[in-house]
Amino acid sequence: MNDEYVLLKEDFLVSQTDKKGIITFANEDFCKVAGYTLDELVGQPHNMVRHHDMPKAAFKDLWDTVKGNDIWTGYVKNSIKGGGYYWVYATVYPMDDGYMSCRRKASPDEIEAAEKLYKTMR
Ligand SMILES: Cc1cc2nc3c(=O)[nH]c(=O)nc-3n(C[C@H](O)[C@H](O)[C@H](O)COP(=O)(O)O)c2cc1C
Repeated sequence: MNDEYVLLKEDFLVSQTDKKGIITFANEDFCKVAGYTLDELVGQPHNMVRHHDMPKAAFKDLWDTVKGNDIWTGYVKNSIKGGGYYWVYATVYPMDDGYMSCRRKASPDEIEAAEKLYKTMR
């Protein structure tokens, strides 16, 4: 129940938000891995999938970057509905009417490095 879901190499998780971080779209892979239906996600703040191990500073950096109209990349640990978690390598893009995140599998080495780094951050 608190297990890791290890992404498949073909998993490609996409979500979009408005300017305030409210989810406006999620693709099938995101719904499948996160454990939610599209209806449960749309209209909710994207922090609904936040995992408590993620430092606030990582998301501050994400928001500062995309609000500055730049592309943010980084490793993110997310919660799964009902328990469990998964790691991704995320690329977040600014768009005209909001933001889009595209996520793919992170390697075990990348996950280990991110875990170590995030333990030193708040
Ligand atoms: C396009 C986009 C995708 C995001 N994806 C995630 C995500 O997968 N997981 C996550 O915890 N936060 C994600 N965030 C950041 C959240 O909006 C939020 O800042 C974060 O969960 C921390 O919550 P807090 O801002 O309430 O502290 C995303 C933000 C944007 C703009």
